Amino acid sequence: MTKRPFRNRLNDLDPKRWLKFQKSWFVHNPPPRRKDVIRHPAKFPETLAQEFIEFFTKSGQVVLDPMAGTGSALVAALRCGRHSYGIELNPGYAEIARQVLEEERAAIARSNGSTAGVENLTAEVITGNAACIADLVRTHHIPPIDYVITSPPYWDMLRARGAETQKKRRQSPDLDVFYSDDPEDLGNITDYDEFIERLAAIYEAMRPFLKPRAYLTIIVKNVKKGGKIYPLAWDLARRLDQTYSLKDERIWCQSDIRLAPYGLGNAWVSNTFHHYCLQFRNDRVV
Ligand SMILES: C[S@@+](CC[C@H](N)C(=O)[O-])C[C@H]1O[C@@H](n2cnc3c(N)ncnc32)[C@H](O)[C@@H]1O
Repeated sequence: MTKRPFRNRLNDLDPKRWLKFQKSWFVHNPPPRRKDVIRHPAKFPETLAQEFIEFFTKSGQVVLDPMAGTGSALVAALRCGRHSYGIELNPGYAEIARQVLEEERAAIARSNGSTAGVENLTAEVITGNAACIADLVRTHHIPPIDYVITSPPYWDMLRARGAETQKKRRQSPDLDVFYSDDPEDLGNITDYDEFIERLAAIYEAMRPFLKPRAYLTIIVKNVKKGGKIYPLAWDLARRLDQTYSLKDERIWCQSDIRLAPYGLGNAWVSNTFHHYCLQFRNDRVV
């Protein structure tokens, strides 16, 4: 009997690479950041975004990051031959993202010895509020979207007193501690329930612009504030399952962060070095 050929409707990976991605956790320690993007307080690594984009799309498809920061998802998309759009509220970060993308295009062309691979790829950064997605899609002619990969502000944690990662930033005038003071910035919402609702509303409003059965990956973390746990990843997963169907998470572990002695000798307080990469699919009939 002849073996049936492997038919792959989702991506361009061979079965071996497909299987490797299926593990529900992975360790990814971000490589050192470039000087120009270090101003931003919380970005995900381009290398991580690329693995997700290569799994959830085929070459030439369209990727969106509605909270694009300094453009990591778009850089990753460019590297693997996908079109991309990013929306970012802070004009300063949007501008950095545009510069980074221009340099990335030149670097890819140099290493390929030709601009042929990248000159026809869109990588557009839009300065705007993701809550106004319908207007932005219309005015910027964003085509139907095949995949969303994004990471929102982790509530208002950048404003929390004593946040270990923020200590160094507070002393350096070139590094931002918060994303912005804009009231539309989700990182400035102090009420947790309001934050979850406004964040979920943004993702829900994207639905008409996603292709049927498109996937979304949202990278988030559960957070601690004032000694209380706010299960942001779990609450968002449950809330968004009303609109998209929730698929399994992948847990991103970081193994290169120094441990802090929280609660030593007194109480259990974890050093939280993992993020949830939540997968949703646009296949729910609502
Ligand atoms: C966790 S960061 C994303 C970082 C990005 N993935 C990267 O690698 O650079 C969240 C971003 O959301 C942006 N943001 C917050 N509220 C927004 C809104 N209403 N519309 C668009 N962007 C927003 C912030 O300015 C910030 O850059």
